Amino acid sequence: MRETPSQEQLLDYFASHVSPQKVNMYRMWGVDFIPGRREGVRVWDYDGNRSWIDCRSAGGVFNLGHRPPRIIAALKEALDSIDMSDHMLASGYRGLLAKRLADLTPGDLQYTTFGSSGGEAIDFALKLARGYTGRPGVVSAEKGYHGHTGLALAATDEFGSKFGPLAPGFRRVPFGDFQALEGAVTDDVAAVIMETIPATAGFPMPPDDWYPSIRKLCDERGVIMILDEVQAGLGRTGRLWAYEEWGIYPDIMVCGKGMSAAIYPVSTATYRKHLQSFFDDNAFAHLSSTGGSELGCVTSLAMLDQITEPGFLEHVRDMGQRFEDGFASLQEKHPAVLKGLNRRGLMMGVVMSRDECGMLMARALAKRGVIAVYAHYNPNILQVMPPLIIKPEEVDEVLDAMDGAMADVGNSLG
Ligand SMILES: Cc1ncc(COP(=O)(O)O)c(C=O)c1O
Repeated sequence: MRETPSQEQLLDYFASHVSPQKVNMYRMWGVDFIPGRREGVRVWDYDGNRSWIDCRSAGGVFNLGHRPPRIIAALKEALDSIDMSDHMLASGYRGLLAKRLADLTPGDLQYTTFGSSGGEAIDFALKLARGYTGRPGVVSAEKGYHGHTGLALAATDEFGSKFGPLAPGFRRVPFGDFQALEGAVTDDVAAVIMETIPATAGFPMPPDDWYPSIRKLCDERGVIMILDEVQAGLGRTGRLWAYEEWGIYPDIMVCGKGMSAAIYPVSTATYRKHLQSFFDDNAFAHLSSTGGSELGCVTSLAMLDQITEPGFLEHVRDMGQRFEDGFASLQEKHPAVLKGLNRRGLMMGVVMSRDECGMLMARALAKRGVIAVYAHYNPNILQVMPPLIIKPEEVDEVLDAMDGAMADVGNSLG
């Protein structure tokens, strides 16, 4: 019989064969554990001795919590009769999911191409924009993040700097600066791509006219507008799609993370009707062997059923408001640490006084049973993204932990 390794041994295997650097970081952060049981908003360590409320949700993968029962039931049933299916052939499940996405999106967003990861779907969106327009240029945002694959990495700020030369034609403008964006959209530009609410920058909100102005500019100049809803979409902001707030819709909408419902990886790029003509010459111009696996389509459909049920988005808005009220009280209590809150629904950036607060807060929270991490580009902002199914008493538990953690951070700031 195979030996059962201890938690320390497993962490050791991870350090020795996956990444020693990551394990060092986990130790500094206080999350040097191997996940064991997991359920709803909570994760336990391998020994079952410690547990945390997950306020990272892996950026939205765990929108429905850990091991969501309805999704697991749907997958179990599907496993009795289907498999991934051949990606070159027609698929009833891919057709059903694509139709569902078309029904749930505004305007003529009609077709969907599938992938397995967010980066892969972003790559496809940029390929489609370049292929359709015949132009190479792409404008994205400073402090933007779209993934680590080829074109996605070129559109992402900073992370590609060590892997050059990246794909040419990419340029970046400050998020929210329309004048700069207008100047960057020259005749050779195929696409403007934005995270609807930039996660890795700490969820800054754009000026009210940002998206309507981009929409108008793209229409005038024949440029494809791509919105990356990998984190902001699928109910996170209290709306099904984050861009609904600005009364516009993109030419291509990309989803990932939550599309998996934490059970089976799926990503999607849903695009407007006219763009389909790009495939007239070659229906197979883009392929993905595991993208749009039928098993994943089953779990995504079950996830969409759940998040479109009456009351689901209202719950997200209510829990978001409960957090906002709690943070307002904490700001009065800890004015030297807490400076403000970027928030839509349960997408929250807790703005703190200094850059070092990010790591200090993450550590203090881990000690108090909450997992949260700071925004990479703005380490003074703590990202708080609990599962959307979080209950009022769990919100209060997180706020209690925040209170204690802010007291700790206040003390260490002196
Ligand atoms: C906004 C955004 N877009 C794209 C991606 C890439 O997704 P994936 O890691 O699944 O490739 C991420 C991942 O964190 C993301 O946050």
